[in-house]
Amino acid sequence: MSQINVELGDRSYPIFIGSGIAHDPENYRSFIASSQVLLVTNTTIDPIYSKTIESALSFVETLDKVLLPDGEQYKNLNTLNAIFDGLLKKGHNRKTTLIALGGGVIGDMVGFAAASYQRGVNFIQIPTTLLSQVDSSVGGKTGVNHILGKNMIGAFHQPKSVVIDTDMLKTLPSRELSAGLAEVIKYGLIADQEFFSWLEQNIEKLVAVDGEALAHAIERSCQIKADVVAQDEKEGGIRAILNFGHTFGHAIEAHQGYGVWLHGEAVGAGMIMACKMSAKLGWLDESIVERAIALITKAGLPILPPEDMTPETFLKYMSVDKKVLDKTLRLILLKACGDATVTSDFSDEVLHEILQGV
Ligand code: NAD
Ligand code: GLY
Repeated sequence: MSQINVELGDRSYPIFIGSGIAHDPENYRSFIASSQVLLVTNTTIDPIYSKTIESALSFVETLDKVLLPDGEQYKNLNTLNAIFDGLLKKGHNRKTTLIALGGGVIGDMVGFAAASYQRGVNFIQIPTTLLSQVDSSVGGKTGVNHILGKNMIGAFHQPKSVVIDTDMLKTLPSRELSAGLAEVIKYGLIADQEFFSWLEQNIEKLVAVDGEALAHAIERSCQIKADVVAQDEKEGGIRAILNFGHTFGHAIEAHQGYGVWLHGEAVGAGMIMACKMSAKLGWLDESIVERAIALITKAGLPILPPEDMTPETFLKYMSVDKKVLDKTLRLILLKACGDATVTSDFSDEVLHEILQGV
């Protein structure tokens, strides 16, 4: 098992990464200070993994469970209420611990429930998708979608620990694995050229669910994310680079209807748009755009947005992006492979050309 720490003073926490580690009670015991625990998962994951977690938590006095429906379309305030209902009906107090067992949808919702239940209680992340293992379970962004924008209602609330069991990826559908690879590739493009090259050399192994290759990709991704979050927990500056490709991607997700394109698929196409824009501005070598297109294609991800999206539909959704400040759109663009910047230093013409697919 390896361990990466997210260094945030008194809110620091460990990320444990290893094969089969979700079974071990010792990975939970010292992070649960309560006699009450609420396990939250969804109807797909429950029959596969709840028993394992319930038996690892057999030292807990009262273990309750809430089952949510599965899907991005349920990541909303309505579904969140089911968690609060469960907590209140079972009489959970301020010392309770919530456990998020699932992908990013479950992790984001449980994190937000933990941030707001009785003004804040503890929670632990057990991410079960590649995307949640390399991204959403780390860093404390929690929340739900609004019909007018993705992740628009939420809070920063850090978990007490993150338990990443790489064996859980064996049951993950391949489309979901590809979606997670989008975020892995993101780390190479924004922060680590060497890691990007390693990904080019190992993409076939990753797609084939090779345990060793996945463990390395998860560790490197979590380390990069932990470093960025430690510098800028609440996204006053540098943390925004983690949203590379996401401004375009969020517009795709919102326009298609949440759940139609997977988050990682939208990010894959969004990253290519951001790469192309960086090249059009003269900041990024065309060869990097070509390499990104090749890698994202091999990862099984789309490289173009849906055909029915016009510049106008993109701009409608991009105007409510959280990176819009004083009505100015800011984008994450690349100066080189491994070197991202947050900028509004681009003309409307260049943006329009990218949105038109030129
Ligand atoms: P998801 O949570 O919807 O999970 C994908 C699907 O895989 C679901 O059907 C789920 O039930 C199933 N599943 C999960 N684990 C499984 C397993 N081990 N075996 C079999 N099936 C399994 O999707 P996701 O890609 O994990 O997360 C996407 C969400 O994460 C989006 O809502 C996105 O906004 C959010 N996100 C948040 C952050 C953050 O920093 N908080 C970062 C990135 C993404
Ligand atoms: N996924 C972007 C962030 O955590 O900041």
